[in-house]
This record gives sequence, C-alpha cells and structure tokens, in this order.
Amino acid sequence: MQGLSFQPAITALNRISEFSNISQEEEPDRKINIQGINRVEFKNVTFSYGKKKALENINLTINKKDKVLITGPNGSGKSTMVKLILGLYKVKHGKILIDNQDIDIISLSSLRDKISFVSQNVFLFNDTIRNNILYSKPEATAEEVEKAAELSGSSDFINKLDEKMDVIVGETGRMISGGEKQKISIARAILKDSDVVIFDEATSQQDAQSIERIEALVEKRFKDKICIIISHRSIKNLKLTKIIRLLDGRQD
Ligand SMILES: Nc1ncnc2c1ncn2[C@@H]1O[C@H](COP(=O)(O)OP(=O)(O)OP(=O)(O)O)[C@@H](O)[C@H]1O
Ligand SMILES: [Mg+2]
Repeated sequence: MQGLSFQPAITALNRISEFSNISQEEEPDRKINIQGINRVEFKNVTFSYGKKKALENINLTINKKDKVLITGPNGSGKSTMVKLILGLYKVKHGKILIDNQDIDIISLSSLRDKISFVSQNVFLFNDTIRNNILYSKPEATAEEVEKAAELSGSSDFINKLDEKMDVIVGETGRMISGGEKQKISIARAILKDSDVVIFDEATSQQDAQSIERIEALVEKRFKDKICIIISHRSIKNLKLTKIIRLLDGRQD
C-alpha cells in the first residue's frame, strides 16, 4: 500500500487522547467488546509506515499492575508501540494480543475505553477547564472533578484564575501552558480510571515537583493498573517492572 497517508491516524491519536467514545474506525471484524485489560502482548511484531520500518520483531508481555518504561532516542519507535496498542494501525507481521485475543477483532471503542493516553500534545476543546476534564467521564460528579484536578496538580494553576474551572481554554480561549495542558490530561486519566494508563513523554514539560506528583500517582492511585511510561529520561523514583530500550525499532 504505497502512498498511503498516515495523517488521519495521527489526528485521531491527538483527539482520542483521553476520551473513549470514538467509533469512526469501527470495522465489521471488530466484534469483541472487552470488559477490561489484564495483559498486553507483542508477539514478533514488525511494523512499517509504508516502506519505512518503525518496529522490528518486538516481543513484550505486560501484565496487570506492571509499570513499564519504554525508552530510546527520537524516532526509535516508542510512540509507534503505543499507537499499535490503541489500534490506530493494524499489524501485518506478528500479533498484538489483549488478554489472549487478537487486537484486530476487538472493537476500538471498547479498547480505548480501557486505556488513558497522556501525551505530549494534549488536545483541548474550546470549552471550560471543567468540561475539558469531564470529557473522559461525562457523568462524573463535581467532587470527582475537583479531586482529579487536585491530584493531577491542575488545582495549582486553576486556583489562580478568576473564573477557576469555568474559564474557557482551547484555541479560542485563554492560553494555558504546555505543562498545564498536560496536567489537565492527567486529571482526565484520573477521572477515567481505566485499566491501562499510557504516558507518552507526559513529564517532558513538568517541573521537578510535578514529576514527583506524577510518580506518586503511578505508585499509589494507579498501583493496580498497567502503566506504560515513555520517556527519554530514566525514572529515578519509580519501581519499574520492565524497561524496554528501543534503538531503530529494535529491542536493544
Ligand atoms: N505517521 C508516520 N508516517 C511515516 N513515518 C512515521 C510516522 N510516524 C512515525 N514515523 C517514523 O517511524 C519511526 C518511529 O517513530 P516514533 O514516533 O515511534 O518514534 P519515537 O521513538 O516515539 O520518537 P520521539 O522520541 O521523537 O517521540 C521514525 O523514523 C518516524 O519518522
Ligand atoms: Mg514519540
């Protein structure tokens, strides 16, 4: 499939980030609705964008409660692994299994419902901070939103705003910093309470104190969840179950 454009999937990745009810890519084969995720397996996964090989023969098993660090230089394939777990692309060589089922037969909305994705590029809607947090769980109570804002560290900057959580952010709203956006994204993940939480360079714009807060969150509140952390930096204060080092798409 030469000349295939991958741009729509990237846009999708930015948009699905933390909310779940997206189904535009549903396909007839995806008949299984999963109720949870306890294991993610890569079996001899090789993946290319057109002719460009991004991952080669990746083998990895991630179990419930695992805290996995994926590290490696720019372009080594870290985000690609995450995109495959989110079902943004299909694997042609090898398999990805979710609780022993081929990811290709799982409905994308049920898959993404079980995964929170905190990324470097956080998508904010032109809406209030409150509603931006609520996107991951629209039925959440005001108390749950407050708690998520507090645990994510969002309260620190929200409390300095005159309108607090009711201030409009997003492209036409008040500008907030990259680090603040990431905090909102972490608040969404707390509220969503999904089985898997993926941080893709989610600490890149955070100061030392905020990084400590995220580490504490992973260790305590996300203790029973699968956490996949992508980072160029080593992580000092977290007990990791596995470290995957990628180099040119291969496990180092
Ligand atoms: N949509 C795409 N189309 C074509 N090639 C892509 C696409 N996305 C990534 N690539 C290529 O695949 C390789 C792996 O990219 P990936 O984004 O997974 O790297 P990464 O390890 O996350 O890098 P970074 O640390 O810069 O975020 C790179 O060579 C990249 O240029
Ligand atoms: Mg990346």
